[in-house]
Order: sequence, then C-alpha cells, then structure tokens
Amino acid sequence: MRHASKEIQIVDNDEMLRRMGVVRRSISDDGSTIPSQGADWLDAFLFSSAPVRTRVREMIASTNSNDMNESTLSCEVIPGLHLMVFSRTTRRESTTTVAMFITNEILDSAYFEMLCQAAQLDRILVRSMLEQMNLIQPGEVDRTIEFISLLIRSEGEVSQRTNMLGDLGKQLGESYEEIHLYHSLIGSTSVSTSPMAFLTTVTDELKTVLPFSWIAIRILTDRINLPEDFDGFVVGGDLGRQHPVVSTVAERLALSIDGREPSIISTESDARFEGTFGFSSDVVVCPIAGDSGTIGVLLAGNDASSRDEASNIEMKLLGAASEHVSVFLRNAALYENLDSMFLGTVQAMVSAIDAKDRYTCGHSQRVAWLARELAINCGHDAEFVKRVHLAGLVHDVGKIGVPERVLSKPGRLDDDEFKAIQAHPEIGSRILRDIPQMDGILPAVMHHHERWDGRGYPDAISGEDIPLIARIVSIADAFDAMSSTRTYRAARPRHEVLAEMNRCRGTQFDPDLVGPFLAIDFEEYDKMIHGALHAFESDQEGRAAA
Ligand SMILES: [Fe+2]
Repeated sequence: MRHASKEIQIVDNDEMLRRMGVVRRSISDDGSTIPSQGADWLDAFLFSSAPVRTRVREMIASTNSNDMNESTLSCEVIPGLHLMVFSRTTRRESTTTVAMFITNEILDSAYFEMLCQAAQLDRILVRSMLEQMNLIQPGEVDRTIEFISLLIRSEGEVSQRTNMLGDLGKQLGESYEEIHLYHSLIGSTSVSTSPMAFLTTVTDELKTVLPFSWIAIRILTDRINLPEDFDGFVVGGDLGRQHPVVSTVAERLALSIDGREPSIISTESDARFEGTFGFSSDVVVCPIAGDSGTIGVLLAGNDASSRDEASNIEMKLLGAASEHVSVFLRNAALYENLDSMFLGTVQAMVSAIDAKDRYTCGHSQRVAWLARELAINCGHDAEFVKRVHLAGLVHDVGKIGVPERVLSKPGRLDDDEFKAIQAHPEIGSRILRDIPQMDGILPAVMHHHERWDGRGYPDAISGEDIPLIARIVSIADAFDAMSSTRTYRAARPRHEVLAEMNRCRGTQFDPDLVGPFLAIDFEEYDKMIHGALHAFESDQEGRAAA
C-alpha cells in the first residue's frame, strides 16, 4: 500500500511536468540515467543527442564530488534546452535526479532538427506536438528550476516520511505483539489459577506469537513449594517422541544455568545436550528466577535447523515471559504456603473440637476424607474436590455452641436437648460466615442434615434444592456415624452400613450419589478409624498417669 501511494504521487508529478515540457530521469548506481516508466517521444527528444549526454555525465560527476546534503546544478546545454541535476543525501539514502526541459526558443533554434534526428523522430510531428504544450517561456527559466528543485525536495521528504512511517508501523507491530502477549498472560494470572493451567497458557501463547516449533517450561519442583499435582514440565507445540528428551535436557539446563538473561545455546557444542538427538542447532534458554536462585527454564526451539537465529524481539518476548512466570510462581508458592497454613489451622481447630469426645474423635477428618473421595468418584474438578474436603472438616464446627452434656449424653435426648443439637448447623454457619475462604463451604455446614425426601433440618428442603456440597457431606457424615462407636451404640459392621446406605437411597440420600459412594475403597478410612481410637486411648492413659 505504502509503495503504491508513493508511486501514484510521482506519476502525477511527472505528468504535470511533462505538460510543461519537463522530463526527468533518476540515476542508477553506475551513474547512467534511467528513463521513468512510460518514457515517450519527449524523453527521447530531450535525452538522445550527444551534447546532452555528454553534459549530463559531466554534471552528474560534479554533483558526486559535491559533499553538500542537497544541491541543484543547472545549465543551458544548447539555446532553449536546459538541464538540471538535483541531488540529496540523507542518513538513509542518496538520490540524484536529472531533469531536462525546453523553452519555446527551441522551436526556432538551429538545434531543433539535430535533436529530432538523434531521437529518430519526425520533426514536423514533434513541432506540432510541442506547439500544443504549455512550454516554459525564456524568462521563466530560473523560477522553473527553483520550482522543480522544490518539487523533488518535497517528494524526497514525503518518501522519507513514508519510510519512517513504515519503520514505525513495524515497531508498532512488534510492540503490539509484546502487549498482546502481556495482556493474555496477565489475563490468565490470578492467584486461583493453577500453576499448570498458567504455564500451559504461557507456552501456548508464546507458540502462537513466536515462530518456534515448540516452547517448553521446566520447573524444579523441589526448589519451590507448589501444589502437589504440579509435575513441573509443560510444552506448547507438539514435541512428539522428543518429549522425554526435551524434558531431560530442560532439567539439566535448569540445574546448571547461571544468570537471568535469555541466551542462545548451541546444541552441538554444549555437553548438556549429550546423548540427545534431533535438536535444531540452537535453543533459546531463559532462566526462571526464584527467591533464591534459579527454579526453572523456559526453552524455545525448532525441529529443523533451517530457521534463522532468534531475533531481538523474540528474545525480548521470551525473557519477558520467563520474568512473568517467575513472578506468578513465586506468588503461587506464597499462596500455597498460606493455603497449607489455613488448612492446618482449620484441622487443628476441628481436631480440638472432636477430641473432646471419644466417640467423635477424628470424625471431621474422616468425613472430610469420605466426602473428598465421593467428589472425586463423581468426576468433579480439583477446585470443587478441595472445597468438599474443607466442608467435611468444618461441617460440625457449630457443635462448639451445643452444651457438652447434651453432646455426650448416653441415653435418649429430650425435646429441648434435641433442639439444642439441631441448632449446630446454624451456629456453624454463623461462626464461619465472615471467613472469605469459607464462601462455598457454608451451604454444606448449613444443610448437611437435610434429607433428600425433605424430612431433615434446619430448613426441611428436599431433592436438588439441597446444595450438592451438602448432599455429599451428608452421605459421608451418615456413613461415619454408623461406622463408628457412639454414646448410645457400638459401631455397626461394614456390610450392615452399606446395606443401610443402599436402603436410604432416595429417602435420606441423593440416589445418584450412593453408587459412587459405595465405590470408594475404604481401606484408608479403616486405618483412620483405628488410628483415632488408638490416639484417644493413649491420650486417656496419658491423662490417667498424670
Ligand atoms: Fe452435623
């Protein structure tokens, strides 16, 4: 587009000049003149004669020896035939233009015929065509030369600006890519984004923006505290059978890389690529910094060695991306630490409550475990499974507000005592409602004693009106209540509990959840039951001895 608009303008100016009997030519590298596109009889008439050609050569030569930035030389080659040479040198380029023009004196000059003969043109025809043109008057020569210089200069400036615009456009394009990348990376960064999801976005985005066959990120998981499910290696693009090789090399590089700047490593001469094969000759390596030292690398490479070396902008973008990954992972590690601390605090608090009673000792931990297993069996995502686990831990927290004598009363409860027990979901909700991390957990605390048939408490809601998380915790809670010893009865055998679960499908429990619940492998659960009993007994013995 840019080139086309430039050409259109020059053609227009040439046409205008031609009507005044002016023709110009540009100069090639070897100093000869190049006729403009569409050169015609007038060009031939003006440039073909021997005296003109000699004079043009001389003038160009004297222009070349002139070191001025811009110069205009002119002379009258023969009466009525004028030559001017305009040259201009900028930082970018050096251009010389030659222009010839005639005044109407030429028609009466003895040289007219010589010019026609040199151009092999019919003089009657030439004369008639020249007479139809708006030829320059002898008195206008100086002003014409001034005008043509001005015109060529302004064309030069336009062309220079067009080039600058082109450069700017290119820079803008690169900046746009950079901003686009930042934007999509920042858009995918929130503390709740899992490191795996974030790094996948980074590698995919880089793969889209940059001309590499693959982008890989290797994180040394023993150097930074990230969620357990993060395995440390992410790839954008298809590595195919190269996958394990790149993973190995990436780990070697991550363990040995120094500094923080991106670099290009030649796979042929670097020992860390020993025993590997099929790499391109170069791999871009960007270290990912942790709080104390390197925690990983971002790599960019190609299948074939045909590609040019990575450009500055590519290196810059890869460097920026690895910086961003570093910031994200350090935040994720902080978040993970906070999250573990929070969970630890909740567990300690809940254990303290459970430990008050031999019969509920470990109850919340077991309900949390069962609820989590059920959520996993139902195919829920990691985020929901985590929430279900937390809900299981805190579901009975409201029992803090129920008198201990009621909680541990061996016999049947009277109406008031039963009301006191039934208040624990609401008390629990009140205790937890101001803790931001408990958003999404409260429905489980509030409704884990509702029944599918609507005969539960506190709101007697039924079916899918009961929040899913509450239905899940409810099953786990009932199972643990039946499986563990209570004040009023002994633990029931497993086969009886399972039969009871099946029997209550669609009355007490969500019928769709019973199947996945019965599919749980209860081995771990049984260990928890025995562990809890043992812990309680030794605690009691300890107290007795003291
Ligand atoms: Fe409860």
